[in-house]
Amino acid sequence: MSPYVKAPKIRELGYELKVRDAMDRNLITVQPETPMSKVRGVLRSNRISGIPVIDKDKLVGVVCVEDLVNWLRAGADNCSVEEKMSKNVVTLYTDEPLIHAINKLEQYGFFHFPVLERENRVLAGTITREGIIRGLLKKLEIDYREEEIRHYRASHVFEDMIADKTSLIFQYYVVGQDFNRAGESASALKKTLKRLGTHPEIVRRAAIAVYEAEMNLVIFARSGEIIVKVDPNQIRIEVEDSGPGIPDIEKAMQPGYSTAPNWVRELGFGAGMGLNNIKKCVDEMNVTSTVGKGTRVEMYVATKKESVSYEVKGTG
Ligand SMILES: Nc1ncnc2c1ncn2[C@@H]1O[C@H](COP(=O)(O)OP(=O)(O)OP(=O)(O)O)[C@@H](O)[C@H]1O
Ligand SMILES: [Mg+2]
Repeated sequence: MSPYVKAPKIRELGYELKVRDAMDRNLITVQPETPMSKVRGVLRSNRISGIPVIDKDKLVGVVCVEDLVNWLRAGADNCSVEEKMSKNVVTLYTDEPLIHAINKLEQYGFFHFPVLERENRVLAGTITREGIIRGLLKKLEIDYREEEIRHYRASHVFEDMIADKTSLIFQYYVVGQDFNRAGESASALKKTLKRLGTHPEIVRRAAIAVYEAEMNLVIFARSGEIIVKVDPNQIRIEVEDSGPGIPDIEKAMQPGYSTAPNWVRELGFGAGMGLNNIKKCVDEMNVTSTVGKGTRVEMYVATKKESVSYEVKGTG
């Protein structure tokens, strides 16, 4: 698999960006009748490894370093580009997602692809590895700056609000058995707390606690919600579900106790450590449950500077 595609963030950007965002628009082309003897100079002076061959606005082939080398080896006779170029050209369209270009680079092992306008198949540019990397880095930088601005704005919220007491409430709805979306609330909360300027250790602890409670909700219940109340001194979290309930809470809290079915264990859950992890991450935790009705996990994490524990708590 492509090294680009292994990283989830790069894959995500590969779907967000279009080929046109990363292509090189500086069109260096030759005609079919251009003599082969001129190709070396064009490749060298432009530091490129392939040149699209254009006949009346239409792409008819590509001549690359390999074609040049073969021509030189065979005696460098006096012939035109048309005789030596590759005619079966793999192309891309400007409006395709960039991930297609990344996949094609991997699949064909070429260094460049001509890019065409879809409507008229006119050459619009070329895409290369360097162009892809440049496009991805540019997008990463834009995203990073936007996140910094959001962070800056949000982190002043508490200072800007004038009241005797200020709280922000975040609500997340969770659907049971939906493993595609499992963990989304925890990661959304993590992002939000970071933007609010919450201490990274507090963010980590709150996110782990919410993640474990969210996973339990997804695994054991049909549906539920997570309500997070953030004020300048603490984060209060309530996770409530309409599920089967827990008959013996004390037992459920014991490390290693799990009633997770086999198919859930195959997904990597069911070590019986979730509730225990929550306990280690929060300052206080309270589980209440009614069999046949549902479960409610309440917890809070103190965020006031003097109560922030900088010691890294183990999470089991
Ligand atoms: N929301 C819930 N509804 C019903 N039962 C629950 C719920 N949360 C936990 N339980 C019960 O408590 C047990 C222990 O939960 P815990 O989160 O500690 O472990 P686990 O979910 O089984 O495994 P792990 O969290 O390590 O993947 C569960 O196996 C289940 O029997
Ligand atoms: Mg669990």
